[in-house]
Amino acid sequence: MTVRKDTLFERYLAPLFEHVLLDRQALMAYRRSKDWEQEGDRLRNPTLVYPDYYQSQHFHGVSGGYLNPDAAVTYDAITQYVLPPNELWIRKSLIERIQSRPRRILDIGCGTGSTTLLLKQAFPQAEVIGLDLSPYMLLAAKDKAKAAHQLIQFVHGNAEQTGLPDGSIDLVTATLLFHETPPAVSQTILREMFRLLRVGGEVLLLDGNQAMLRHSDWLTDIFEEPYIQAYAAGSLDAWLGQAGFGAVQTEDLWLVHQISRGVKPLESTRVQFETPAIAEQPGWAMG
Ligand SMILES: C[S@@+](CC[C@H](N)C(=O)[O-])C[C@H]1O[C@@H](n2cnc3c(N)ncnc32)[C@H](O)[C@@H]1O
Repeated sequence: MTVRKDTLFERYLAPLFEHVLLDRQALMAYRRSKDWEQEGDRLRNPTLVYPDYYQSQHFHGVSGGYLNPDAAVTYDAITQYVLPPNELWIRKSLIERIQSRPRRILDIGCGTGSTTLLLKQAFPQAEVIGLDLSPYMLLAAKDKAKAAHQLIQFVHGNAEQTGLPDGSIDLVTATLLFHETPPAVSQTILREMFRLLRVGGEVLLLDGNQAMLRHSDWLTDIFEEPYIQAYAAGSLDAWLGQAGFGAVQTEDLWLVHQISRGVKPLESTRVQFETPAIAEQPGWAMG
């Protein structure tokens, strides 16, 4: 598998994963099971241009990051060890916080579709769409949905500009996406999520706990997460509010994770939040 040789991940963690934690034979067999390039081409959106932040980085020590099939082949096997105390429990915690009965769900940056699948299983009547920039992650997601006999639509697209119609989605989710996007991109994606939701629709985000990550810059080196420190310095709560969401709440989950929820408010409620022009404000003296 193509991994870089100069990262802490490669020097210390890769050998541990490769020789102890991962079923290397099974991964190699999956890697050889299809022509990833050719099948990736079939679902690739030919008009899509990969953003710079995405194609210039080697996420998790894999050369080319998610634009390398190896990232898709190894993703689930590694992720099970990096979501304590238990990956399924953490992902289900997001599902449990959904307060509506959505009919159309969009999982943004769906990767190999682990959360997308849980969403479909929780809401079997709903139309569920998973969207991702990596054709290889989408191929792995399709394999998993097929194995679970679930009908999910997987779309090759950019979350910053999905091309989906305004107000067409009841629930939009993103798990483990925003620690991998620069804050300006995260804010563009949140505005796109707002546009896609119908009034009253929900957004739910699961990611690393920003407050905790501010004190863990060593994680950047170990897992080769190029944007995680910028993510940690920001506030998803604030970004959600700036994108227009109401009833925004973020709660810590098992110390290292956080779940944020927001709702697209009625137009009238939004107007209330708008800051009046400085000249119209009463001239209160600040103490
Ligand atoms: C850490 S993975 C998370 C995958 C999945 N949501 C999960 O919970 O396991 C981040 C994913 O976001 C995707 N991604 C990053 N930027 C994106 C963008 N602008 N639009 C769509 N997908 C994006 C990557 O290709 C990758 O599959």
